[in-house]
Amino acid sequence: MKKIGFIGIGKLGLDCAEVMAEKHEVRGYDIYPRTSATVKVCDIDELVNESEWIFIAVPTPHAEGYDGSVPSSHMEPRDFGHDAVIDAINKVNTHAHSSKKVVLISTVLPGTTRKHFVPLLDTKHQFLYNPYLIAMGSVKWDMVNPEMIMIGTEDGDWNGIAGELKDLYDTVMQNNPRYEIGTWDECEAIKIFYNTFISAKVGLVNMVQDFAMKIGNINVDVVTDALARSTMRIMGPKYMTAGMGDAGACHPRDNIALRWLAQEYDIGYDFFDTVMHAREIQAKNLAKFMVDQSSNLPIAIHGKAYKPDVPYCIGSYSTLVGHYIKELGHPVVYLDPMADDPADVVSEIHGPHVVLWAHNRKITYEYTGDQLDTQPYCAIPTGSIIVDPWRKLRQTADGITVIHYGNTRNPT
Ligand SMILES: NC(=O)c1ccc[n+]([C@@H]2O[C@H](COP(=O)([O-])OP(=O)(O)OC[C@H]3O[C@@H](n4cnc5c(N)ncnc54)[C@H](O)[C@@H]3O)[C@@H](O)[C@H]2O)c1
Repeated sequence: MKKIGFIGIGKLGLDCAEVMAEKHEVRGYDIYPRTSATVKVCDIDELVNESEWIFIAVPTPHAEGYDGSVPSSHMEPRDFGHDAVIDAINKVNTHAHSSKKVVLISTVLPGTTRKHFVPLLDTKHQFLYNPYLIAMGSVKWDMVNPEMIMIGTEDGDWNGIAGELKDLYDTVMQNNPRYEIGTWDECEAIKIFYNTFISAKVGLVNMVQDFAMKIGNINVDVVTDALARSTMRIMGPKYMTAGMGDAGACHPRDNIALRWLAQEYDIGYDFFDTVMHAREIQAKNLAKFMVDQSSNLPIAIHGKAYKPDVPYCIGSYSTLVGHYIKELGHPVVYLDPMADDPADVVSEIHGPHVVLWAHNRKITYEYTGDQLDTQPYCAIPTGSIIVDPWRKLRQTADGITVIHYGNTRNPT
């Protein structure tokens, strides 16, 4: 049993600490009051001195308006904020009476650890960069079933502390994961380009959806399913269903921040701007389609959080579509019992509406083995039109029309 501390027990840190606590003695420290049944929440001095391993899972926030829930590709590129990580490192320096193994989980851009963090840490400590591929709604499952575990060291060497961290993870992992060892900078790059590859992939399949809508006689699923089965040259089938755009607290903002890195290193082009610009115009096209369906019907978006079963509206594609619907002069309301942003959220709608079926929990979570479909968040009034960008809903009741956005061969 190892003694482990987590600095920052928020959305990511607390669940990860609790997973570790199933096998180890785990403490947590946060600047906000937190509680846990299995992690001992304590002060920073106890955490630092009672832990051999110290994981840092504090926020690396983006500036206001840079999360992707409203258009941002016209704005000046910015790096993430580093203050909380620097504060955590300073606290380790101040409180530690002996050498510690410090592991940073928080997402940062390539080059950040070497440039901004390691120079601050007392040389008696060791430092690893170890970002997680974890999604909200399935944090604990993702933690123990990762596609890979990235461990970044100063020189990309397996020996010493990287191997020790692997041994620690082997005690909790369920899927015998692949380990990728690299320099701090390589692991920063693996993590952030993993996220942005997904954004680019979603942007591409949603582009096929846009063409299907414009050209006609095309069901986007026929096209993308064929591409997804082309495993000789194109990668695996995940994220190959056109629908709502890439969203959430991580993916959009990672692209937005990489725009800053492309400028900083004078790469000469801004691929990330293109990905984000495409995402915004895809949302605008969907908004325009909703407005075109509505004539005089009001518009509702079924799902405001960036995905089903979580409250987080940060980086939400629903609100991006809603933004463009409003820009086109139409009010919009959201149906979402969990949404953490109550603006324009209603619990029911009266009379016929045009409803965007933004959430599809089966598509979102089926990789974890969960197959449950999204249930309606309220009764859908007769005379409504449901626009399903995932093309899975069947005609639900008489008097309700279902349109499969992206299928112009047989759209209902
Ligand atoms: N949430 C995810 O799905 C996810 C996935 C992978 C990576 N990440 C990364 O992990 C990091 C944390 O993300 P999160 O979603 O858990 O954020 P969060 O805001 O939910 O949690 C961060 C926690 O750190 C605490 N905190 C802030 N400043 C602190 C300080 N100086 N000292 C101690 N505690 C402090 C906050 O009170 C909060 O509880 C971010 O860099 C994020 O990009 C998040």
